[in-house]
Amino acid sequence: MTQKQKLELTWIGKDTRPRLEPRILLQGLERSYHAQHRVTSHDIFDNKLIFGDNLLALKALEQEFAGRIKCIVIDPPYNTGVAFEQYDDGVEHSLWLTLIRDRLEILARLLTPDGSIWVTLDDNEAHYMKVLGDEVFGRGCFIADISWQKRDGPPNDRKIGSIHDHILVWGKSKPGASKKTLAEEAFNLMPRTEKADAQYQTFAEPDGPDQRGAFRKIDTTANGKGGRFVESLFYGVKNPYTGEEVWPRKGTCWRHSKAEMARLQADKRLYWGVNGTATTPMRKLFKTEAKQGMTTPSIWLDTGLNQHASAHMETLFGEKAAFETPKPEQLLSRIIHIATNPGDWVLDSFGGSGTTGAAAHKMGRRWIMVELGEHCHTHIIPRMTKVIDGTDPGGITDATAWKGGGGFRYYRLAPSLLRNDKWGNLVINKEFNAAMLAEAVCKLEGYTYAPSETLYWQHGHSSENSFTYVTTQHLTCEQLTQLNDEVGPGRSLLICCGAFRGKPENYPHLEIKKIPKTVLAKCEWGHDDYSLKIENLPKAPPKPGQQNLFAELEAAP
Ligand SMILES: C[S@@+](CC[C@H](N)C(=O)[O-])C[C@H]1O[C@@H](n2cnc3c(N)ncnc32)[C@H](O)[C@@H]1O
Repeated sequence: MTQKQKLELTWIGKDTRPRLEPRILLQGLERSYHAQHRVTSHDIFDNKLIFGDNLLALKALEQEFAGRIKCIVIDPPYNTGVAFEQYDDGVEHSLWLTLIRDRLEILARLLTPDGSIWVTLDDNEAHYMKVLGDEVFGRGCFIADISWQKRDGPPNDRKIGSIHDHILVWGKSKPGASKKTLAEEAFNLMPRTEKADAQYQTFAEPDGPDQRGAFRKIDTTANGKGGRFVESLFYGVKNPYTGEEVWPRKGTCWRHSKAEMARLQADKRLYWGVNGTATTPMRKLFKTEAKQGMTTPSIWLDTGLNQHASAHMETLFGEKAAFETPKPEQLLSRIIHIATNPGDWVLDSFGGSGTTGAAAHKMGRRWIMVELGEHCHTHIIPRMTKVIDGTDPGGITDATAWKGGGGFRYYRLAPSLLRNDKWGNLVINKEFNAAMLAEAVCKLEGYTYAPSETLYWQHGHSSENSFTYVTTQHLTCEQLTQLNDEVGPGRSLLICCGAFRGKPENYPHLEIKKIPKTVLAKCEWGHDDYSLKIENLPKAPPKPGQQNLFAELEAAP
């Protein structure tokens, strides 16, 4: 969203962007979970569950996962107003847009070129989200607004009751001349239904049934009304059985050029009826030549309702209300089927009860989920544990013949690298040990953290010949000389240290920076939660005419 759009959505605070600290992730072994033994040869163990605010978590993932996620599914808070009673509408709405925009911008960077993002919302924000998503992904990358039927009857308290949610879909990129995004090109079709297959039949013909097998009859004429009549597509075609010349019906023309019709005729791909007396031939589309799946329609009536997801909650946690807003696994399964293949990464940064991870896991995809609420521990971990143990009989378990296996690693966000000391100066947080410090500084400096087992000064690298070394030590001239000699010509070493003696120009293979000074201006420090929790929000402005009783006291000298 760097370029100014001619047409754009504006809101309070749109131009303010957080300067996010790229935190490191700390693995919690006690909360990670893996199957005791392999169930199949392709079990996946490197899934990630991250506890914390998703803006920081996405920033934390960016270095490793930029350009690697095939499918993002998010089911963010719908902004129904319930959580924001004390805010006037404009502020609430603006905050929601800012929350989503900041996350969307990082999410976009995580997608593969043929990746896609799927966002579920209701009428509260879906239409604003369409405009916002177009700003981030580009209007040409919009794929569809799918209507998902979520309940079987309208709510009684409305005259027109919504029974569907929107699922807005964008692809990451679209080559200039192409009609479709790379994502749509890569999408999987839906399996053919029996009803669709029933259209392909063996039809009687004067020369006997076509040996190429069952086919479907396709109209060869097009409606010529409304300026769509094409003169060159209006010509006579000879019926090979009757010898009669037939013409398109009044108001229509052929769909195909004269040459193409001749080719179809010569290849016996035109069907002239049981006795060969038809006056309008039909084109044969052989089952063997038809596409192997079906286009997905944009209205989904068969992917489970909210009540099915709640019933699944009951089987998992003993009560329906265990989690209030779960999505059915069937819905996630449809999205994941279309957008990914086994082994691809699927990301959900509003994890909730863990439906996306559960569906992805059962379908053999890799997954990352982020959840800020305590239900990360009370719901997602127990649910994924059951999935891994093969003891969750609900959702898509039968449809995928899921038997269990695989695992996930649990992570939490590291605290901020810098904190204020008692004099208000930013200093390295004492909670950081040497390894954490090295990893955090690597991340800030854009190096991949990969400590060498043999060379103490190789903590990370940015290329084959470019390394970094992080230490809080004060390095002497002798130490720097030794490091410079060890690094040697053809390689370079960035040293981030507490302090150093000597002139940098004496060490041609080293670049020397002091920490924390060198990272101070890189981002904002100590900001742990960018979520829309009420306590994190700025105070709502007083309503017009509403007296702020404390204003005078605050203003008093
Ligand atoms: C509508 S629920 C998602 C439900 C989920 N699709 C399911 O099937 O269970 C939205 C979730 O996003 C989480 N959430 C909201 N803001 C968040 C944030 N800033 N970081 C991480 N999670 C957040 C909420 O705690 C909630 O669990």
